[in-house]
Amino acid sequence: MNLADKIKEGLPAELVNFLVTAGGVAETCGDGLYLVGGVVRDLLLGRQNLDLDLVVEGDTKSFAGGLAGLLSAKLVAHPRFGTARLRWDDWSADIATARSETYARPGALPAVKPGNIQTDLFRRDFTINAMAIELSAPRYGELIDRFGGLADLERKSIRILHERSFIDDATRIWRAIRYEQRLDFKIEPRTLELLKQGILMLDTVSGDRVRHELELVLKEPLPEKALRRAAELGVLAKIHPSLKGDNWLTERFVRARQLTAPEPPALALYVALLTCRLTADEAERLLGYLRFPNTVTRILEDVANIKVELDILTDRSLTPSGIYTLLDGYHPTALQAIMLAMEVPLARERIEEYLDKLRHIRTALTGADLARMGITGGHIKEVLNSLRNARLDGKIKSREDEVRWVEEKRE
Ligand code: CTP
Repeated sequence: MNLADKIKEGLPAELVNFLVTAGGVAETCGDGLYLVGGVVRDLLLGRQNLDLDLVVEGDTKSFAGGLAGLLSAKLVAHPRFGTARLRWDDWSADIATARSETYARPGALPAVKPGNIQTDLFRRDFTINAMAIELSAPRYGELIDRFGGLADLERKSIRILHERSFIDDATRIWRAIRYEQRLDFKIEPRTLELLKQGILMLDTVSGDRVRHELELVLKEPLPEKALRRAAELGVLAKIHPSLKGDNWLTERFVRARQLTAPEPPALALYVALLTCRLTADEAERLLGYLRFPNTVTRILEDVANIKVELDILTDRSLTPSGIYTLLDGYHPTALQAIMLAMEVPLARERIEEYLDKLRHIRTALTGADLARMGITGGHIKEVLNSLRNARLDGKIKSREDEVRWVEEKRE
């Protein structure tokens, strides 16, 4: 089967030219060159994917070097890993030497040695990701499909290549769920059986790798689908037994997207919604295990701290300046999470008021103005705060009001 036409239809002209040029260089060097992985799957499915992964049977550095010269592309090579990335204009492509992998023990990263396209495809996760397209000039566009990937695409099946797949690499459990839910496929019965048996193997995977998988799930357009499936299979519970992928979460994720549209929600917002029903102790344990970047951790800590203040937020006598004082200093994403999570409308409305209005309110007078008016250094911040509070509560509205207010207070 030749996919040259599909490549032309599915990719922008710049990338098609790149593949043709790369195929020409490969032919000259006598190297085998292949387009592999997700982009092949997505070309066959007619889904947009611009992430070009190439495998070369030969020396990646010299091949990529020759190609970079022709394209005036920037080359970043990692000879130790046999990989290179080319960047030119707004485009990029990853190139790797064909390899085979063996797993010394479950959960460990694989030992790698040079191989050919067969071994390179065999080391992959699922049949639909283990197809390649030849690029070397005379065979440009030919599909290589040794494991029935095309048939599985037609059947809408996620299937592993061999029985030890999930034992070798338990992160594939998360990947299977992610592809199944993204593509509306089904994990085929034997693969599902082995996946369930492999769930225990998730204990052999480091927290960093699990976090990476969770982040990939949360970057999906509808992450709640994969989380629901992961919960149903007992996979989410492996991250923490109290995490839930239920209707509550689905509703919050949908609202989160409405709130941040047209941008997708920040990763931290999704993580905060996923974890906000944990107790403080549970959340702390989870944070220790997954080791999110500092900003995400700070947001999750803020969520825990705001939760303690929620009673005050529903106090009817709370003034706008009281809301400001209560919520000032918390990360806006943490406040968004609490707002989306809250059942009590009054608390939700107050956080919304703070985020949309109150936190942007500024005094007309600056510290320098106050200094000119004779307020001494140590008091400036205090006076600015009380001015801002008076503004928030509608007691003063204009610069003149502020000047009058400061003068009255000084007397
Ligand atoms: N791969 C694998 N096992 C893994 C990770 C990756 O076999 N644990 C292989 C798959 O063949 C995959 C390719 O490496 O297609 C590239 O990995 P990645 O970029 O994670 O996957 P994509 O298929 O490009 O997926 P996505 O569409 O989610 O980016």
